[in-house]
Amino acid sequence: MKARDRLRIAMQKSGRLTEPALELLNRCGLTFRQSRDKLFCFGEGEPVDLLLVRDDDIPGLIAQGVCDLGIVGRNVLDEYRFTAGMGGPALAEWRPLGFGRCRLSVAVPQEVDYRDASQLQGMRIATSYPGLLGEWLRERGVDAGVVTLAGSVEIAPRLGTADAICDLVQSGGTLVANQLREVDVLLESEAVLAGPQALPSDERGDMIDLLLKRLDGVIQVRESRLLLLQTSRGALDAVIRLLPGGPQPTLLPVAGQPDQLMLQALCAGEVSWRQLEEIKKAGAREMFVLPVEKMLA
Ligand code: PRP
Ligand code: ZN
Repeated sequence: MKARDRLRIAMQKSGRLTEPALELLNRCGLTFRQSRDKLFCFGEGEPVDLLLVRDDDIPGLIAQGVCDLGIVGRNVLDEYRFTAGMGGPALAEWRPLGFGRCRLSVAVPQEVDYRDASQLQGMRIATSYPGLLGEWLRERGVDAGVVTLAGSVEIAPRLGTADAICDLVQSGGTLVANQLREVDVLLESEAVLAGPQALPSDERGDMIDLLLKRLDGVIQVRESRLLLLQTSRGALDAVIRLLPGGPQPTLLPVAGQPDQLMLQALCAGEVSWRQLEEIKKAGAREMFVLPVEKMLA
């Protein structure tokens, strides 16, 4: 195989997305030999390598064809569309990945009272997302000054260089520590698999196709739980009504106990203690919730 017959995936070198992204790829059967400088990681099993870079560089690397895919925050991908990506090849969000959830929000000093976006008229707003913020303001007909900063956006109001900020919020801890209040959400973000608009029509395209199929399986299974329980035939209807969403449960007889049934149900999401307690009250017992490791329908 020629070097570039191998697939190349870009992801954040060190940050909130790094660990969960690596774990996700591992679950898809991709393992990597960590190279010394940790910029390039050679893939061991499959012909898929990793490039570890700054998250803001990921969309550009895909657009230039240096990488085939990237794992990056939706916030970074969408910002790229408005700024550097204008006129370049279009990038697509192939899959939402369900981790790294955060919001891109407008925040103002705690004492400022805020009703709606019109109040931002004439204000200076500090952000690392001038493209997304500019678009949001335009849509609302608000004329505000956008102050673009590479980082430490949250201290701009205290320094007097801005009246408000537009930044990522996850736990909200950064805002509280800087006496700011989240007042409007521009974008709900999470890690996504980004790539070119169209699959390449060669071996790399086939490899991407295979990876997407495995990824779908992993994402589906990650949220699935297998619920096992025993119930009497009399309580069966009540128990079934309380089961969390999923396909029809399977029922099995219990040896020597003609009145009892063993029920097996695949649930689409987490099963909480509260739900288990309710199902038990309806007449179930011997309940087990098991994680699902692999699934091939
Ligand atoms: C983001 C953002 C805030 C912080 C918010 O930065 O810029 O500073 O996280 O998180 P919180 O609500 O949990 O406090 P991040 O650490 O992701 O680094 P970045 O500069 O690369 O965006
Ligand atoms: Zn960043």
